[in-house]
Amino acid sequence: MAARGSRPLALTLALLKPDAVAHPLVLEAVHQIILRNQFLIVRAKQLRCELGQSRHFYQEHAGRFFYQRLVEFMASGPMWAYILAHEDAVPLWRSLMGPTKVFRARNSVPDSIRGTYGLTDTRNTTHGSADSPASASREIAFFFPEFSEQLWYQREEPRLRRGPVYYDTEQRVHCVLRDEETELP
Ligand SMILES: *[C@@H]1O[C@H](CO)[C@@H](O)[C@H](O)[C@H]1NC(C)=O
Repeated sequence: MAARGSRPLALTLALLKPDAVAHPLVLEAVHQIILRNQFLIVRAKQLRCELGQSRHFYQEHAGRFFYQRLVEFMASGPMWAYILAHEDAVPLWRSLMGPTKVFRARNSVPDSIRGTYGLTDTRNTTHGSADSPASASREIAFFFPEFSEQLWYQREEPRLRRGPVYYDTEQRVHCVLRDEETELP
């Protein structure tokens, strides 16, 4: 993995939605895109949203014509949720996903995630936090209530940034090599 600079890592929430998780090859392809783009996967878990949670998560869209379809879709099957770290986590993940509207993604950014794998505007494969500092924190806390961003910045971020880091294929997260291991000849 390329050496990381002196800029702090930022975090974003990424969701691999039910349409992606329903197709193992799509799920794996999106996962590989994440790895290829030098994200560090800080936490990863499979989960299923209840309708109430799904409504709550998308409450800013309440009243829009697609709201009911969206919340029902997000509760329709298992998803993968990731906390991703990268110096430019929020804008990088958003640009990899491409436009939210799949028909537009297919035309204007065909090799984006949604341009390649998106099925419809509702079944649009992935979610990422919006470009505001509060949005990623709020969304991470929503899906990972046990995760303390403050503690992560204190304890894990400096070590992840300095490395060395390895990818644990079983847990699907990046880990810091323990000091004992790095000191071995
Ligand atoms: C597509 O996904 C984004 C991100 O989750 C969401 O905000 C948007 O509402 C979705 N589009 C539709 C039409 O549901």
